[in-house]
Amino acid sequence: MNVGIDIEEVERFVKYAKDKSYLERIFSKEEIAYSIPKKNVSQHLAVRFAAKEAVWKALSAKNKKLFITDISIKNDKNGRPQVYIKNIKYKKIDISLSHTRKYAAAVAIAF
Ligand SMILES: CC(C)(COP(=O)(O)OP(=O)(O)OC[C@H]1O[C@@H](n2cnc3c(N)ncnc32)[C@H](O)[C@@H]1OP(=O)(O)O)[C@@H](O)C(=O)NCCC(=O)NCCS
Repeated sequence: MNVGIDIEEVERFVKYAKDKSYLERIFSKEEIAYSIPKKNVSQHLAVRFAAKEAVWKALSAKNKKLFITDISIKNDKNGRPQVYIKNIKYKKIDISLSHTRKYAAAVAIAF
């Protein structure tokens, strides 16, 4: 079992939310489509970035060729976040996300 954790300052993502080319470089289409219509767009982006980093930390011991941009977070019908790697659901990991006005945090446990 491997754990990964990350925390991001939401403020950093306020300007990224307006930068289409940055968004498309870092986030998947699904992550952008989920976050942009929301009231607290920068929080949803920040927590997705934190989730990618947490997943990368949890999986890096197993997969040296994994890039942050290979990882995408999609919420299921209950709102629970799920990990996709290169568009395929990765089942051997669990993540949990939380965000406030200032901080966004994510934990990943790979098994
Ligand atoms: C899901 C819930 C726990 C989120 O808690 P919160 O304090 O409002 O918000 P947080 O910042 O800690 O967490 C938000 C993240 O939780 C995650 N989440 C949402 N629904 C989830 C679920 N069913 N299971 C696991 N994670 C979930 C999402 O990743 C969300 O972030 P995102 O929308 O950017 O993807 C809460 O909104 C909720 O609906 N609770 C269940 C309803 C309930 O029992 N209410 C009574 C309380 S007295």
